[in-house]
Amino acid sequence: QGDPRLKAISEAIRVVPHFPKPGIMFQDITTLLLDHKAFKDTVDIFVDRYRDMGISVVAGVEARGFMFGPSIALAIGAKFVPLRKPRKLPGEVISESYVLEYGKDCLEMHVGAVQPGERALVIDDLVATGGTLSAAIRLLERAGAHVVECACVVGLREVKGQHGLNGKPLYILVEPR
Ligand code: PRP
Repeated sequence: QGDPRLKAISEAIRVVPHFPKPGIMFQDITTLLLDHKAFKDTVDIFVDRYRDMGISVVAGVEARGFMFGPSIALAIGAKFVPLRKPRKLPGEVISESYVLEYGKDCLEMHVGAVQPGERALVIDDLVATGGTLSAAIRLLERAGAHVVECACVVGLREVKGQHGLNGKPLYILVEPR
């Protein structure tokens, strides 16, 4: 892609070797949030892409999807729906578990947050295996929403083909460094 903003966005993400475990190159988006221009460019690129797609729901994945999703939702005129880790939401929820490298985790969404037929965007900071995004897609589809796309700031391009995310498209700004 030829967008000159992407290089600066990539460089604003700090790479921390061996965090949280040996061998992991952690992509730390907190340094992107410190860089006003890179942070704003990140949100603007998503907003430009999604503003005219009839999206009424932006669903953000805890925790780092919460750092980008609300700004995008406000700018495109959509609601923001948090997809949370277990036992955080006080109301009635639906849950979807997913497999992690070691063990399992789960995402929950409030019943009634999304109406059948709504068009949804799923946002997170990073996609690795795609397991988290797949659980998010299943939650939204169980509520009757149509998932238009999943969007992440950082991800491996190969994930698209490998995991398919239930056939949903995946939009990534930059690759991990
Ligand atoms: C990270 C990241 C994504 C997920 C991607 O979150 O923010 O949500 O992993 O991995 P996957 O594509 O292999 O599923 P993490 O599980 O560390 O949770 P946190 O944001 O609450 O720390």
